[in-house]
Amino acid sequence: MAPTFTPRVFSGIQPSGGLTLGNYLGAIKRFVAMQDEGGAETLYCMVDLHAITVWQDPATLRRNTRELAAFYIAAGIDPERSILFNQSRVPEHAQLAWIFNCVARMGWMGRMTQWKDKAGKNSENASLGLFAYPALMAADILVYHATHVPVGEDQKQHLELTRDIAIKFNNDFGVEFFPVTEPVIGGPAMRVMSLRDGTKKMSKSDPSDQSRINLSDDADTIAKKIRKAKTDPEPLPESPEGLKDRPEARNLVEIYAGLADTDVASVIAEHGGRNFGEFKPKLADLAVEKLAPMSAKMRELIADPDEIDRILGRGAERAREIATPILEQTYDIVGMIR
Ligand code: AMP
Ligand code: TRP
Repeated sequence: MAPTFTPRVFSGIQPSGGLTLGNYLGAIKRFVAMQDEGGAETLYCMVDLHAITVWQDPATLRRNTRELAAFYIAAGIDPERSILFNQSRVPEHAQLAWIFNCVARMGWMGRMTQWKDKAGKNSENASLGLFAYPALMAADILVYHATHVPVGEDQKQHLELTRDIAIKFNNDFGVEFFPVTEPVIGGPAMRVMSLRDGTKKMSKSDPSDQSRINLSDDADTIAKKIRKAKTDPEPLPESPEGLKDRPEARNLVEIYAGLADTDVASVIAEHGGRNFGEFKPKLADLAVEKLAPMSAKMRELIADPDEIDRILGRGAERAREIATPILEQTYDIVGMIR
């Protein structure tokens, strides 16, 4: 009989700086919801080992890691109820990743779109770590036997690879040791698009700052960016189907729904037929109302880096209590004398 695994949620974000509304609505907001539901243990991580697959200035990396920790906490992750830590402090991730490097196949990695995008034409010059990135990600998840992983849609392929690694390991060694993890992708605004182009993801790497809302933006900047967001000349449709082929309109409605904790249908029921001249100020007010307290709290937390480091140290200790026995069993299955 297949073993049952304790429900456990894991997710991670790279501390590579520049947090946006996309990170909040597409990732952290759902992390908080899963913590608050209380049905599973929740582990949230700053994946610093992933960040260094491309060059990071050491001082900046340290700053970005603390800033991301502050963001998690300001957004509602409670370091008592969830386990919050940075990846490199739990060496079991890198240890299991090595084993997974030997399970995963070159062909699997070569098919990853993130690898192809990031390495580009110059793949000979990309780091070996960038190629092996998804095996480390699988280790992040499976070293806790995590059963559920909330991520944005762009990480779906990596999660499928995590499942492939778990299945191949279990088959190769004739065990049912690793769970086949479920991706948790969904909710409104799961993919927040650029404010300048509704077909492109909102991203910290977009050259135009007008394309995104940064968590560090002040109220005026947020309002201005929303007012200037690209739209079409039509008013909001009277039904959700009317958003079809209107990517910019859809994006603003989804952002509204995400921030208001509701769905697209309800936003349309309330605002359908309105012009953007009317809708945008409402969206701006809502965005400021939700984001301003969060950035204020973040600034307060960042002012005390020692406290952040202490929280992360404690999180790492708790994480290791789960990871150590699972890694030990893995070594045993593989045939390592311990
Ligand atoms: P990144 O900052 O791109 O490394 O992403 C960190 C997390 O935020 C991942 O779970 C992403 O899927 C999520 N994320 C980033 N940008 C967006 C976006 N525009 N819409 C939805 N989710 C996003
Ligand atoms: N690859 C993810 C991203 O870029 C970050 C990540 C690393 C992650 N390890 C993870 C996400 C484990 C979920 C689970 O967003």
